[in-house]
Amino acid sequence: MNTPPPVLVTRRLAPGVVERLTAHHAVTCHDSDEAMDRAELLAAVRDRRAVITTLDDRVDAEFLDAAGPRLAVVANHAVGYHNVDVAACAERGVLVTNTPGVLTTATADMAWALLLAATRRLGEGERLLRSGTPWSWAPRFLLGLELAGTPLGVLGMGRIGQAVARRARAFDMPVSYHNRRALTPEQAEGADWKPLEELLATSTVLVVTCPFTAETRHLLDARRLALLPHGAVVVSMTAGVVDEEALAAALESGALFAAAVDNFEHEPAVPSALLAQERAVLAPHLGSATVRTRQAMGGLAVDNVLAVLGGCEPLTPVKV
Ligand code: DGY
Repeated sequence: MNTPPPVLVTRRLAPGVVERLTAHHAVTCHDSDEAMDRAELLAAVRDRRAVITTLDDRVDAEFLDAAGPRLAVVANHAVGYHNVDVAACAERGVLVTNTPGVLTTATADMAWALLLAATRRLGEGERLLRSGTPWSWAPRFLLGLELAGTPLGVLGMGRIGQAVARRARAFDMPVSYHNRRALTPEQAEGADWKPLEELLATSTVLVVTCPFTAETRHLLDARRLALLPHGAVVVSMTAGVVDEEALAAALESGALFAAAVDNFEHEPAVPSALLAQERAVLAPHLGSATVRTRQAMGGLAVDNVLAVLGGCEPLTPVKV
């Protein structure tokens, strides 16, 4: 059997990105916005030296067996890499890279778009108008939550969490955060570190930006959601950290004022319990979805592939 082109790209990339690869290497690009199905992916990885993957592509022992010994690098087109078994890659000498940093601004902006939509009930208002329901301005019509002076909690004060916190200054919101370790004062820029349960008890608006790992899965379960002040708002930017069924139940009971979710644990499925909540603003994983950011993410994945295939260290390796 002939050896295929050395590089496989599993999704259509942002405009102009794949051309930077094809200038140096032969590439097979799955030129579609749909993920490859598993059998197609396993057949396509055979004998590749580099694969640019997305969060839908599970990179595990089966994938690595299918790829074979030529595989040198898996460049994940995301900052997250819960789809990749990094230890299995390391055992076989396959490097893994991700795309940190370049999506911070776009994702923080989206967290704020969702925060504003949830606190000011924009989803409900839009649905009302589009449904043709009669309405009129009234002193109690679709009242929201005002932000100035309202405590904001950030769960996960990495790059994205810090950018979310920085934007809160423009809204005059006091900011606290929880991280495993407190940041330096320069990094925290006035935000206070709190233990998790204290953060929850004091945050009227909580934005979740911590990475999804085995330790953070369902960190915000029913018990912890119940620690939030009555009438709080939760904005979830990381799939799997907030228990989606518990979130829907907290909305249903009125314990939460509103919620917004950008990533779902079992994408593309969205729990029907959440779909049923008028006060839930639901987005189809749009955090990094701007042209500039998707070009930067694709560009970084390409640079990682070019570095490894050129015998250099990758720019943004994922460590085991
Ligand atoms: C990531 O990079 O992990 C994001 O979820 C993509 O928007």
